[in-house]
Amino acid sequence: MKFSLNLKSESSPKWVEAVMADFPSFLQDHASCEKKASAMSMSLVSKYPDRPLIIKPLIDTAIEELEHFRDVVLWMEKLGVSLAHDMQQDIYVNRLISNVRKGRDEGLIDRLCLGSIIECRGAERFRMVEEALTEPEIKRFYKILWASEAKHGNVFVELALHYFDEKLIYQRLNELLEIEAEILNGLEFRAALH
Ligand SMILES: [Fe+2]
Ligand SMILES: [Fe+2]
Repeated sequence: MKFSLNLKSESSPKWVEAVMADFPSFLQDHASCEKKASAMSMSLVSKYPDRPLIIKPLIDTAIEELEHFRDVVLWMEKLGVSLAHDMQQDIYVNRLISNVRKGRDEGLIDRLCLGSIIECRGAERFRMVEEALTEPEIKRFYKILWASEAKHGNVFVELALHYFDEKLIYQRLNELLEIEAEILNGLEFRAALH
């Protein structure tokens, strides 16, 4: 079932051009994003142990992201690309997180909404990568990935719906989607997920 809302902007074809121009760098960044996505899910488990309905789905999501990380690492090995240090600063994610409100409930709503938005953007962009690639096996890999990230985009909203009012969630999701589109618009095109 679809719980997420559509993104408020489309990624530029110039972004995927930058990715295809330096695919090894993109893979290095992509691997790091999967690892961080897994850690992000687990950090929510640590922050909100008093919200039992979100624990198991968050652990499942963390495991899936870790599987994505492993699969990207396997592709890197196959293509002779080494693993890199995590980027010092993920401007996109940092700017998004700076919008998380202070209150405990507000903080959880915002983190789950941002989780959904980041996943939906990942799905959109992996789909663009899939379309730009030509080798069938890696194309298939990116197709599986974007479908999985789109599913995660729904999971985070579904988790919020277990505890908070639907109107409240979708209102905040809308606001954060506007903010996300603005942040994305301010980024330069790099061979990286964001
Ligand atoms: Fe992932
Ligand atoms: Fe994901």
